[in-house]
Amino acid sequence: MTIIGTVVATSDSPSLENITLILNKDTQSKIERGQFVSISKSNTQVVLGIVTGIKKHNTYYETLDSSVQEIASRNYEAIFPIEEWESTQADVKPLGEINLETRRTSRLKFPVSPGSKVYVATSSVVSKFLGLKKDGIYLGDIPSNNVKIEVDLSRLLRKHLAILAISGAGKSYAASILLEEMLKRSKMSVLVIDPHGEYTSIVPPKSRNTRIEVIKGSYISIGVPELSAWEISEFIPEISAVQTRVLDNVISNLRKEAKPHYSLQDIIQNLERAETINTRTREALVSWLYSLNRTYLFSAESNPNFLEILEPGKIVILDLSDIQNLRSRRIIVLHSLRKLYYQRTRDKIPPSLFVIEEAHQFCPASSRSISKRIIETIAREGRKFYISLCLISQRPVHLSVTALSQCNTNLILRIRNPYDQDFIGKTSEGIDRSSLKMIPDLEIGEALLVGEAINYPTFFRIRSRYESDKDSSLTLEKMANRYENAWRRTQDSLEK
Ligand SMILES: Nc1ncnc2c1ncn2[C@@H]1O[C@H](COP(=O)(O)OP(=O)(O)OP(=O)(O)O)[C@@H](O)[C@H]1O
Ligand SMILES: [Mg+2]
Repeated sequence: MTIIGTVVATSDSPSLENITLILNKDTQSKIERGQFVSISKSNTQVVLGIVTGIKKHNTYYETLDSSVQEIASRNYEAIFPIEEWESTQADVKPLGEINLETRRTSRLKFPVSPGSKVYVATSSVVSKFLGLKKDGIYLGDIPSNNVKIEVDLSRLLRKHLAILAISGAGKSYAASILLEEMLKRSKMSVLVIDPHGEYTSIVPPKSRNTRIEVIKGSYISIGVPELSAWEISEFIPEISAVQTRVLDNVISNLRKEAKPHYSLQDIIQNLERAETINTRTREALVSWLYSLNRTYLFSAESNPNFLEILEPGKIVILDLSDIQNLRSRRIIVLHSLRKLYYQRTRDKIPPSLFVIEEAHQFCPASSRSISKRIIETIAREGRKFYISLCLISQRPVHLSVTALSQCNTNLILRIRNPYDQDFIGKTSEGIDRSSLKMIPDLEIGEALLVGEAINYPTFFRIRSRYESDKDSSLTLEKMANRYENAWRRTQDSLEK
């Protein structure tokens, strides 16, 4: 194995928290931040660490007074071998140690010695340390250590996952990798709440089969006879318990009339006819129900049947891109998650993963949203029933703290906003300062995995999709061209 550096003694290193190395000149260009290195303690014991920073050093230029200027002005570089005094230092955060014979890992209890030799950590040592699982969910690679990031499905999802990053950093791409893996090996069923219709192109038509179903928002209707008064009241934040009971009476009477297919309109008519109800209650209920009815989401029958859509190993995408109104989208999210959650608690559907894109819209931190409670309930209780959440958001600050803090694994891509970075530092367990500092520098496709799924916060490159639909990466120019072609065809046909 090639030695890449040597541990040096500085005022604060080597310690249990930090190790400084001088990198060998001929291999230093291959060392990068986020890479794992191993440091020999003995023939069988090595310390694994992660490179957190790299800096250049030259004793010649160390002094900050005018002598540096003097050196420059007198062209001493020509006389002295100043370049040769330059060294490259790397800061390494030690993570623990491993016995190469027994493969047992342990906490670092005593610092390494100055002068210890440093190597690029082998993939088997890194995998063992990170707790990766061969043939697990393959999310990406650490190219500099030749490591495949394969994580155990249960560890990744059981206690919920959050994918957080600025817009365009690759959140949906990362989620589509997860979906590919779920299709490949998992018997779980998956529901994707897709407000922008992104997943219809992310999952290329070629690979769509009976195991992937896309349901358009405009196709969804909520069967009113399936709803109790309490379920309807969840669509109306202002409603009181007394008003809900009145609504319950009206619904009970409708059911007694043996009218199986009643709609909101029927409830409204019966309310208007019921003279015993207090006028203010009646008017309030009628106006709320009218407003619900105007969303055109409610009808006498349900479509699709949420009791049947989720099967083992199947992905259902709720494409809400044709529903513009945020309240209507929230109504669909509340209705579908509530139904599926209830079915799961009775073991009527398989263990499931609910992927919620733009989670801050459906489960916001401050403002009221009718879909917030069910998402928070699933975040808190879902684990008991083998329901996992994958919350995706570009503004973690605006996401419910209750929901986000239950996401025990975070996949973090580039985040620029200091408030969001701060927030992640506070809410994401196990994330340290050195990892936090690296988040703004991540490039598209680079990610930090932290939490339950992996033993240490780990930077890696998200893998490429097995199949990709070129349309999903349409540039503005290509999109304009495509629109122009379609528009010309329409114009031509009109002229004929
Ligand atoms: N790992 C990756 N490898 C290759 N291309 C990627 C990767 N991640 C993202 N991209 C590309 O970057 C672009 C943006 O990715 P994506 O749509 O996933 O971002 P996003 O974070 O979901 O953005 P938004 O917040 O706007 O939804 C896409 O064109 C996608 O193809
Ligand atoms: Mg996206």
